[in-house]
Order: sequence, then structure tokens, then C-alpha cells
Amino acid sequence: MHVVLADLDKRGLKKAAEEIPGSLAVRTDVASMGQVQALASKAYARFGAVHLLCNNAGIAEHGPLWELPLSRWRRVLAVNLWGAIHGCLAFVPRMLAQGQAAHVVNTASMAGLVTPPSAGAYSVSKHGVVALSEALVQDLATRGARIGVSVLCPGWVQTRIARSTKGADAVMRSLVAHGLPPEMVAEQTLRAVRDDRFYILTHPAMARAVQRRTEDILAGRAPPLALFRRRARSQAG
Ligand SMILES: NC(=O)c1ccc[n+]([C@@H]2O[C@H](COP(=O)([O-])OP(=O)(O)OC[C@H]3O[C@@H](n4cnc5c(N)ncnc54)[C@H](O)[C@@H]3O)[C@@H](O)[C@H]2O)c1
Repeated sequence: MHVVLADLDKRGLKKAAEEIPGSLAVRTDVASMGQVQALASKAYARFGAVHLLCNNAGIAEHGPLWELPLSRWRRVLAVNLWGAIHGCLAFVPRMLAQGQAAHVVNTASMAGLVTPPSAGAYSVSKHGVVALSEALVQDLATRGARIGVSVLCPGWVQTRIARSTKGADAVMRSLVAHGLPPEMVAEQTLRAVRDDRFYILTHPAMARAVQRRTEDILAGRAPPLALFRRRARSQAG
């Protein structure tokens, strides 16, 4: 495959591009529709077609949601959710016009399927990415398009995410440090694209949490930690 790389980090982008001969690197802020449109134009001008689109850029935060500054709330949603929306809006019409088989991978998170505490803005953005992907796959199927969709929902992965996480504590750093190697997640993703699998759950042990959330919804229960806190409060009272 020919590879087009897009990232906000100029140095990281240059380094990655050097490792992939023939690749096209385009500095892009995915929060900007104009910049993602420009990225699509450059990708099509250079290679004439796009067969695999990965909307992957993301940032995180940690702490009670009311303590996160409004500007950071907006930035998390702008990068994680609007970034994926911009990617779909800029690329999918061109991929449809190509008329060839293609695939879109949107990176969400386990935090897009369940809602952990202390990551409100992140969870809102990732639930949005799951909904975006679920809507996209149905709209494409309705059109009879030959474009598949997958939504990547990893648990912890050993990347640099803690560095860009506002309020990251030692616990989060350690969870990331003990996460899956990124190469394994990449392999799982490639296999899912080849098999046209929609949900990509990288950590099978976490799948139980999805089942429990569904049971909680049907039973009208709040997520477990909130329930635990309520119990602790009522026992204290
Ligand atoms: N690492 C994990 O444990 C984990 C778990 C679940 C989901 N994810 C998701 O995986 C995706 C990749 O993150 P990662 O873990 O590799 O983290 P990372 O910080 O190593 O990589 C994220 C990349 O996104 C880039 N980026 C940030 N803001 C951008 C913007 N506005 N425009 C363009 N590029 C931007 C960064 O420069 C960086 O290269 C994210 O969507 C993240 O939410 C990560």
C-alpha cells in the first residue's frame, strides 16, 4: 500500500515518514475541517484513490468532569469526535465516487462502549465515535456501497497517550505502560479490516464490562462505581 501520514506533531510525523519510504506526510490538525479537506485533496492528488481510511488521532484527560476547563472539554471533543467526523466527511464522498472496495476504521475506545469514571469528556467523545461508526456502516449499506467500516475499541495500549493526557496520574501511566503493544493492536485491526468485522475489541477480558453495562441499562442501574459510592454513602448515613 501507499501510505499517507497525518499528524499535528511535526517532528513525530517527519520521523514516521522517514521509516516508510514513498509515504506522503501532511501536517494536519484534525480539529480543522479545512485542514482535513486539504489532506484529502493532497492524498488524492498524489495517489488517485484511498482504500483504507484510519481516523485515529486522539487526546485524553483525567479527573472529575466539572474540574476540566471548558477549553479542554472543547479540545477533547474537537480532536476525538470532530476529528473522526471531519475524516468521514472529507474522505467518504470521494471513496464512494471511486466505486472500488474500501474500508474506514474509526478509533474509539473501550470508553466508547462503557463509561469509566474520571474521563467524562473522553468518554463523551468516544461514545460519539462509536455512534458515528454505527450510523456510517448503516448509511453505506443502505446505499449498497462497497465500503466497510470498523470501530476500534481498545483497552490500554502502550503508547504516548499519557503524555497528552491532562491530569494523568501515576495509576493511568502504569495502566498504559502495562497495556498491549501497539503492534498487536495494529495486527488485530488489519485482520478485522480483511474479515470486515465491525467492532474490534482488543481486550477480551473487558468484553464482560459491555455485557454488564447492557444489563445495567435494562435494569435501570447506574454504572457500578456510582452504585458503589451510593451504597457507601447510605451505609455511612
Ligand atoms: N493508548 C491507549 O491506551 C488507548 C486506549 C483506547 C483508545 N486509544 C485511542 O487510540 C488513538 C491513538 O492514540 P495513542 O494511544 O496512539 O496515543 P498517542 O498520543 O501515542 O498518539 C496520538 C497521536 O495523535 C496525534 N494528535 C493529537 N492531536 C491531534 C490533532 N488535533 N490532529 C492530528 N493529530 C493529532 C498526536 O500527535 C499523536 O501522534 C486515540 O484516538 C486514543 O484515544 C488509546
